[in-house]
Amino acid sequence: MRPYDIILKKRNGGKLSREEIRYMVLGYVRGEVTDYQMAAWLMAIYFRHMDEEETFYLTEAMIDSGERVDLSSIPGVKVDKHSTGGVGDKTTLVVAPLVSSCGLPVVKMSGRALGHTGGTIDKLESIPGFRTDLPLEEFVENVKRCGIAIVGQTLNLVPADKMIYALRDATATVDEISLIASSVMSKKLAGGSDAFVLDVKVGTGAFMKELDEARRLAKLMVEIGKRFGKRVVAVLSDMNNPLGKAVGNSLEVLEAIDTLKGNGPRDLLELSLTLGALMLELAGISKDAEEGKKLLVEKLESGEALEKFREMVRAQGGDERVVDAPEEVLPISCSVVEVRARESGFISWMDTEKIGLAVMALGAGRKRKEDSVDHSVGVVVEKKIGDFVERGDVVFKVHYSKKSELTEALGMLERSFKISGEPPKEIQLIKEVIR
Ligand code: URA
Repeated sequence: MRPYDIILKKRNGGKLSREEIRYMVLGYVRGEVTDYQMAAWLMAIYFRHMDEEETFYLTEAMIDSGERVDLSSIPGVKVDKHSTGGVGDKTTLVVAPLVSSCGLPVVKMSGRALGHTGGTIDKLESIPGFRTDLPLEEFVENVKRCGIAIVGQTLNLVPADKMIYALRDATATVDEISLIASSVMSKKLAGGSDAFVLDVKVGTGAFMKELDEARRLAKLMVEIGKRFGKRVVAVLSDMNNPLGKAVGNSLEVLEAIDTLKGNGPRDLLELSLTLGALMLELAGISKDAEEGKKLLVEKLESGEALEKFREMVRAQGGDERVVDAPEEVLPISCSVVEVRARESGFISWMDTEKIGLAVMALGAGRKRKEDSVDHSVGVVVEKKIGDFVERGDVVFKVHYSKKSELTEALGMLERSFKISGEPPKEIQLIKEVIR
């Protein structure tokens, strides 16, 4: 076998065998397939695609490139949740303590900011002292003791994805359905849970801009999960608007805590209850999503979900005063400027990716892998699609640290929305559930 022949076969639209796919992926991790060969192969896949069987073999090869987590010592069904990436998506910070307070063990491995989208781990590190790098034994102990732990991917899980993702990022091959499906599912499956709820984002702020492609991606991931003997449910959710109002690390933690106190934005709460209810259903804690939602609302209203969040913060070394006085504990920049509406009318469209990029430009994400993030910066989205604004109303409040970064971010935010005389069509947050 030669990489050249495998690249040629895919370039010409051929179907690859399990052996050919494993040869490329495992050979790349071992250094036997070069960067330029892998890049050419990825581009061939980008244009010629992979079918379900090839995507399954690609996922399997990626999992086999590294370690797998064994969660069998934790009693009960383990259900993981994953989002394909959005702007203002702090759902994990709400859903994880919520479902944990219902008795579902939450064993969550999360990522950092990627492209224009934020990452749960960067958000949690806004809480002073919070450790996201727990070793596996401590991580599992925490779940056994308090029912919840959220950590970064410190183990050698799916090294093939780390290497291939970096290459995709540099070669314009990120947004291909079989590459995304195998990247997401390999990490989830190596994480060792029994069932998965996937939040597949669709809209201007998502990797998938169109409903059709998001649906194809969701179905493919559900099928791959099934082939591995796992139960997977996918929710298609809207990303034409940022989720909630806060975008940026500390601001998002603040909004998640407000939501656990019952004072959060409606869209964030609705999505959290939908995903949480599906997790409870998959775990067999509730008989259906409706019963699950009722239980989640009870836990929210009783304050048990908030207490679970506090317990997690304490167990992972964070300053638990964040629960009672988040504005005193979280680093949130007091340097604020506002972006205002230039005319009166309805907000008819938002380029949510641009809003995400503006927040990254303020310093909330990384320009290079080794950069540190600024937890204190971000944007509060005061008006969203469908809202009526008078000329001069505040659309965005921008928390910034450095004047030099502000100019670029403001330019992007100014161009990230349109105002029209006509009200736009109402946006449906939850578009479909694919089982
Ligand atoms: N998230 C991932 O983990 N991988 C992708 O390819 C895209 C989004």
